[in-house]
Amino acid sequence: MSRHTDFIPFSRPRISHEEEAAVLRVLRSGWVTTGQECLGFERDLAEMVGVKHALAMNSGTACLHLGLEAMGIKKDDYVITTPYSFTASSEIIRYLGAHPYFVDIDKGNFHISSEGIDKCLHSEKKNFKAILPVHIAGESCDMSAILELAQKHGLKVLEDGAHSFPAKDKEGYFQGTRGDAGIYSFYANKTITTGEGGMLVTNDSTIAERVKIMRLHGIDRESWDRYTSTKPKWFYQVVEAGYKYNLSDILAAIGRVQLTKAMEFLEFRAAIARRYTEELKELDCLVLPAFSKYHSWHLFVVSIVSEKLTINRDRFIEVLAEKGIGTSVHFIPLHIMPYYQKTYGFKPEDFPHALDKYQRSFSLPIYPDLGINEQEKIIDAIKGICKNHYKKSLAVQKALQ
Ligand SMILES: Cc1ncc(COP(=O)(O)O)c(C=O)c1O
Repeated sequence: MSRHTDFIPFSRPRISHEEEAAVLRVLRSGWVTTGQECLGFERDLAEMVGVKHALAMNSGTACLHLGLEAMGIKKDDYVITTPYSFTASSEIIRYLGAHPYFVDIDKGNFHISSEGIDKCLHSEKKNFKAILPVHIAGESCDMSAILELAQKHGLKVLEDGAHSFPAKDKEGYFQGTRGDAGIYSFYANKTITTGEGGMLVTNDSTIAERVKIMRLHGIDRESWDRYTSTKPKWFYQVVEAGYKYNLSDILAAIGRVQLTKAMEFLEFRAAIARRYTEELKELDCLVLPAFSKYHSWHLFVVSIVSEKLTINRDRFIEVLAEKGIGTSVHFIPLHIMPYYQKTYGFKPEDFPHALDKYQRSFSLPIYPDLGINEQEKIIDAIKGICKNHYKKSLAVQKALQ
């Protein structure tokens, strides 16, 4: 493979001097761990998405874990979720000794099938306690259907909105805000980033209170409060065996600045998605995501129509890399991962839609700093590959002979 100095990475965060200044301010303030910046970050985000409580943590995974813990999920409970996700959304179920119950995605999209959930709730006699839908790529699952099923069967709902921020769904709600709790990730490649970090959002005060305690060692008062309140500074009570999941003020300061730019970042991403859609829509050997404003455009996932191309997805990715373009795959489904196979005995064909989507899909670069020329290079490369590897029909091949 030839080396490119102008290689287009799959993702690149936009960090400017405002974020640098915010970090410097915190570093010089004398308070670098969880404190006022974190509180400010939580307040700003809660206000933006319209929830009562936003709780910052050091990863989206930590938020998922404590969200489910606060919902009372315990050993041998079952949580209905999707195999088409990053391992975080299922591993946290295992942290609690509970089990993920996989329901396949819809044939036509990347989301857990609500009919599939309905079917499993009627046909399976398991100890179902919650549903954990994942808003893949930044497009909402069918939350109305999922919430209706949850209500009917007395289940909690934890929304994995790691990809969602700050997009709404078609019904006008910020993704992640309709279940009992939802989470956002601020990992390096996400729509806004703190390097590592996450936020749990909820309108349920009981969940919020539990998460507040559990994210900081099971201590009944916030660490920051411990050092600033008028009560004796040295006193605290450990009421649970909690975790160390708090976010530092250094990272929260980055998050607060990124938050002010979130809508602008979304516009940049949406503009790129629109351009990809316009430029590539004629290629019938590719399936593109439907352009919509109800999408965070964290990911732009393209699927190949294998029957129309002489190369497979893996080779498509390789050729793009040879042309200096970075891509990624979202996701290798969990049911074909060694851990989940070993633990639950899954076979690849158990979730055929997830397997099929995985085998045909890859994600293109999409981020605010992706320049016009870079977009052009990506579009030209894809058109070229499709043209060079288009499987002509037998009739056309005969005619050409
Ligand atoms: C669907 C999904 N859920 C959860 C996470 C975990 O987020 P974090 O990396 O912030 O822990 C990710 C991370 O990429 C993800 O893609």
